Amino acid sequence: MERAPAAGVVWLLAEDAAVVRAVTRVCAEAGAGLYRTPPPLNTPCVALADASGSGPADLVASVRAALPEAYLLGFMAAPDPDGWRAAERAGFDEVASRGALGPSLRRALSRLTEGGGVRSYAICDAQDVAGRIGFLLETEVPGLGKVSLFREQGRLVCLGTCPHQGAPLGRGEIEDGVVTCPAHGSRFDILTGERVRGPSDFDVPCHGAYEQGGRIWVLKRL
Ligand code: FES
Repeated sequence: MERAPAAGVVWLLAEDAAVVRAVTRVCAEAGAGLYRTPPPLNTPCVALADASGSGPADLVASVRAALPEAYLLGFMAAPDPDGWRAAERAGFDEVASRGALGPSLRRALSRLTEGGGVRSYAICDAQDVAGRIGFLLETEVPGLGKVSLFREQGRLVCLGTCPHQGAPLGRGEIEDGVVTCPAHGSRFDILTGERVRGPSDFDVPCHGAYEQGGRIWVLKRL
């Protein structure tokens, strides 16, 4: 199975064309996944946003609400000392000028990797599942075992087998973002893996997935 180097994930919250180009380049070099929507919970992630906006505290709060563990890296196209201090006070973990964003992002990604990071595995061609929603396919991933790939609310995610007695969840019914295990009826939130109803006593393992370079990749924490 095709495997990308160990790396983290970048969640890019900015539209600035120069920033998008720089971040895309760094992600390709580092083998990091690039998200334009929030990655799944518990994914080692650098969130990258414009720190010069008028409400940095609101921005920080919304990122923290979506992904509490993210390393929040801000950039400023025209840095000024007051704006810089306001961004740091608002809770950005680091602020960089737009020109220095590439090196800052590389450092942040390598810290994620040192802390364990993630490795990506290609599981299919993007065109194999293009335009489909809900359950997409079932496959085996080294170290993860059997997983089911879903597209829910526009996001890709892989769930492991049911923690109760190991049934594959892809064959279960889906309703309102919740999948029901086809064996004994445990229910799980597709985007988080959280247990909604037993008999399973546990959440189901939930792994982020993303599309890049015409392939669908699943993330495995190291
Ligand atoms: S195997 Fe899923 S509920 Fe029993």
